[in-house]
Amino acid sequence: MDAAHMGADLEKVLITEEEIHAKLDELAAMIAREYDGKDLLLVGVLKGAVMVMADLMRALPMTAPVDWMAVSSYGSGTKSSGVVRILKDLDTDITGRHVLIVEDIIDSGLTLSWIKANLESRNPASVEICTLLRKPEAAKVDVDVKWVGFDIPNEFVVGYGLDFADAYRGLRCVGTLAPHVYS
Ligand code: XMP
Ligand code: MG
Repeated sequence: MDAAHMGADLEKVLITEEEIHAKLDELAAMIAREYDGKDLLLVGVLKGAVMVMADLMRALPMTAPVDWMAVSSYGSGTKSSGVVRILKDLDTDITGRHVLIVEDIIDSGLTLSWIKANLESRNPASVEICTLLRKPEAAKVDVDVKWVGFDIPNEFVVGYGLDFADAYRGLRCVGTLAPHVYS
C-alpha cells in the first residue's frame, strides 16, 4: 500500500506532523532541564514508541543512551487485555540510573503501570514516563505520567508508530480509521 492509500483509510487527522514535532520540541526542552547533569536512560516501548523516540531523542540536547522493551498487552485487536508479558527485556542494568519511559499512547494505563512497577523493582534512581498521547476517558488505573503530549478522545487511533493489525505505523500524522477498514 502506498502513502496516499494509507492516508485514504483515515476518517480524520487528529494531530498533524507539524503539531507532533512542535510538541516534542517543547517536551524535550522540559526533559533536558529535568535531567541536566544526571545519568539518563531513555527506554522505549516497542513497537509503537519508535517514532516518538526517534524524534524526541533528536530534539534532546543531550547524549542520553536508549534501550528498548517489548511487551504484549494487545493482540491484533483494539482492546487492552490487561495481561502483560515481556517479549524483549532491557539490555541494560538500570540500578541507580534515571529512567525515562518513552511511550506512544496511554489508553487504559494497564500496560504502562505494569512496566513502571516492573522497572521500579530494579532499584533505579527514578522512573518517569513521557507519552505522546493519552486517552483520559479510557483510564482504568491511575498512572503518574510526568510528560504528556496530547490528551485525545477515547477513539482508536493509528499513525506515527501506532498500528491497526501492525499496519499504518508509518503515517506521519495521528488519525482515526475510516469504518470501512474495520469491516
Ligand atoms: P493500555 O490500555 O494498556 O494500552 O494503556 C497501551 C498500549 O495499547 C496500544 N494502544 C493503541 N494502539 N491505537 C493503537 O494503535 C490506539 O488507539 C491504542 N490504544 C492503545 C498501544 O500499543 C499502547 O502501548
Ligand atoms: Mg505501545
